[in-house]
Amino acid sequence: MIKIDNLSVDLGGKPIVENISVTIQNNCNTMLVGKSGSGKSVLMKAAIGLFPAKQGEIHIDGQLINKLKQRELSKIRTNIGYLFQNAALFDSMNVYQNVAFPLFEHKKYSTEREIINKVKQTLEAVQLDDVMMKMPADLSGGMRKRVGLARSIIMNPKYIIYDEPTTGLDPVTGSEIIDLIGSLQKELQMTSIIITHDIECVERLAEDIIMLENRNLVFAGTYNDFKQSELASVQQYLSFF
Ligand SMILES: Nc1ncnc2c1ncn2[C@@H]1O[C@H](COP(=O)(O)OP(=O)(O)OP(=O)(O)O)[C@@H](O)[C@H]1O
Ligand SMILES: [Mg+2]
Repeated sequence: MIKIDNLSVDLGGKPIVENISVTIQNNCNTMLVGKSGSGKSVLMKAAIGLFPAKQGEIHIDGQLINKLKQRELSKIRTNIGYLFQNAALFDSMNVYQNVAFPLFEHKKYSTEREIINKVKQTLEAVQLDDVMMKMPADLSGGMRKRVGLARSIIMNPKYIIYDEPTTGLDPVTGSEIIDLIGSLQKELQMTSIIITHDIECVERLAEDIIMLENRNLVFAGTYNDFKQSELASVQQYLSFF
């Protein structure tokens, strides 16, 4: 469980999110929606300690993470996969090196054989075949997302945060990525947080949903309650469906 309590984050001297209190439940899909610039990416980065909190507390599995030293935080982060908004692969590394990167970083395996096997198995989980020696520049957008996804799940994280997983993909490839996110959650019992503007993604995956507007939280609850909500912001959002 990720419990965010009265969190405010400033960046460059400006408030970005303010007084956010929300609990993200384990073992389900939580969607994070809101207009561009409302603070979604910053909120999730702050929730895992990539940005400092100006105020408030964040507990992950009951542990207060705000004041942790870098080493303790890094240990907690092995439990959290993050698919960054632009897939952010290392362009000078091949697919194998990209996907294995977290294993090297956290010194997870001892032999190269073990690492190769784990990378192979993870690429299979995201339905990629025969790409280990390819460079990111030689992959399509959908394949790059899958490689990013493989890198995010290779440590078998309990939590995974997907930032705009379908943006920039054609509808069919986007739909395949949505399937993959849904099945990874079920098979690996992950706690998935999905930041998205993609309405199909919300409709197909949402169990819980959080909505931000102008730096503030406007809704947090089940998707069923969201659809019944009479809040003007929610109604406006739903009118696009
Ligand atoms: N590193 C940073 N330094 C200063 N300001 C930042 C930084 N990162 C984000 N911001 C600002 O914080 C605000 C919220 O950004 P954020 O990326 O969280 O929005 P978002 O809701 O994820 O938008 P989008 O849907 O377009 O991705 C924006 O005004 C942005 O310019
Ligand atoms: Mg964003």
